Amino acid sequence: MRPCVPFLLVFLSGSAALAAAPGPDPKALYGKLCASCHGADGRGNPVKAKSLKIDPAKLNLGRPEVEKLSREEQRKILLKGKEKMPAYEKKLKPDQVDPVLDYALGLGAAIRAKK
Ligand code: HEC
Repeated sequence: MRPCVPFLLVFLSGSAALAAAPGPDPKALYGKLCASCHGADGRGNPVKAKSLKIDPAKLNLGRPEVEKLSREEQRKILLKGKEKMPAYEKKLKPDQVDPVLDYALGLGAAIRAKK
């Protein structure tokens, strides 16, 4: 039985690490994919807006228009894109879509709450 003990320990610690893994990390995904335009805090990157030739307010996830969109519309914009907003249906795994959208919308809600 002895040789099995180290194996069992590795197996157990391995599955514990898996159980503790947070799955898709929405903050990291947002930072990698979205922050260049929407800004780390969701208020939008004015330099990027200038290079895209759009109103900087369009990149602010806290603008009131965002709240008026239904969840389906918000999800569709993320997956299919809209105007200068790129489509992410091929860049995000299905289990990443809602977490990263929630994270982005959470930034927007926090901005509106501070106003
Ligand atoms: C190249 C710049 C760019 C990147 C990168 C980008 N967006 Fe956008 N996003 C936009 C623009 C521009 C709009 C506004 C589209 C419009 O209505 O004209 C927008 C709109 C949105 C909206 C709809 C609400 C609104 O403000 O109209 C959501 C939600 C959103 N983006 C989330 C994300 C998420 C999540 C990511 C990363 C996975 C992301 N965006 C990456 C440019 C970008």
